[in-house]
Amino acid sequence: MDKKKTIALLNQDLEGEQAAIIQYLVHAYAMGEGEMACEIEAIAREEMRHFDWLAETIVGLGGTPSIKRGEMRTGGKSVSDWMKNDVLQEKDAIVMYEEHIKAIASPKIRRLLKRILSDEKSHQGDFEHFVTKAKKEGLKDLRGSRQDKVVQTLNWGIEHEYTVILQYLLHSYMTRNEDVKKEMDDQAINEMQHLGWLSEKMVSKKGTPRIECTRVDKSTKTADMLRADIAIEKKVAAEYDRAAKGTKEADLKELLTRIRDHELYHVDVFNDLLKKEKEQGRKK
Ligand SMILES: [Fe+2]
Ligand SMILES: [Fe+2]
Ligand SMILES: [Fe+2]
Repeated sequence: MDKKKTIALLNQDLEGEQAAIIQYLVHAYAMGEGEMACEIEAIAREEMRHFDWLAETIVGLGGTPSIKRGEMRTGGKSVSDWMKNDVLQEKDAIVMYEEHIKAIASPKIRRLLKRILSDEKSHQGDFEHFVTKAKKEGLKDLRGSRQDKVVQTLNWGIEHEYTVILQYLLHSYMTRNEDVKKEMDDQAINEMQHLGWLSEKMVSKKGTPRIECTRVDKSTKTADMLRADIAIEKKVAAEYDRAAKGTKEADLKELLTRIRDHELYHVDVFNDLLKKEKEQGRKK
């Protein structure tokens, strides 16, 4: 099989991983704090590792990781139904990985896919267990239908965080500057925390998190990536600041202020990296 075909298959896997991550997070946030939500978040984190391995492999083959999201299953009335959907998501992944292991010749890539496949099989078992556990524990959908300024602000934040997670991950995969790579990876994890905080806050305030993203910057030169990242951080730091000052709800104000401070930190870190990147560019 040629490289191009292998990259296409791995990108299909990557899109499936992203769908699984978001589907599981939607479920975990909606059932609120508790042991099962924690376990589901742990599974989502394993899918994130798969995402990372697949993306790095694609880059190694000279490809560009896809940041499109595959099909999610977010329907279902009860928590138990959601868990059935998660079982189906894992079954689909298992079929896909088995096909791709057959189709790809590279021993190194086959080994990686087999490693991921064994995780998916174990996840399938976990979710099957959660189908009955959710019923037994009487877990409920804690989301509400609140629609007001607070919900709008939180969903705006969630959309922003999801977008920059994908953007920083893509930049970390595509840059050749090792410092930038490490920092982008770190800050993507920080933005994942923000996404979680905002989503949990949304559920506690009886709204429904809408985990969608907007346009991601796909610059290919490191300096251009950093310029785009600095611009977006400055913009959202100002927005978080305005939103924090505009709300009377103390807990929300505190959360938005904390995130704002992180974003201001990101501006400074990225500015430093851009300065160094430009110096290195001149030396070359
Ligand atoms: Fe996975
Ligand atoms: Fe953030
Ligand atoms: Fe940020």
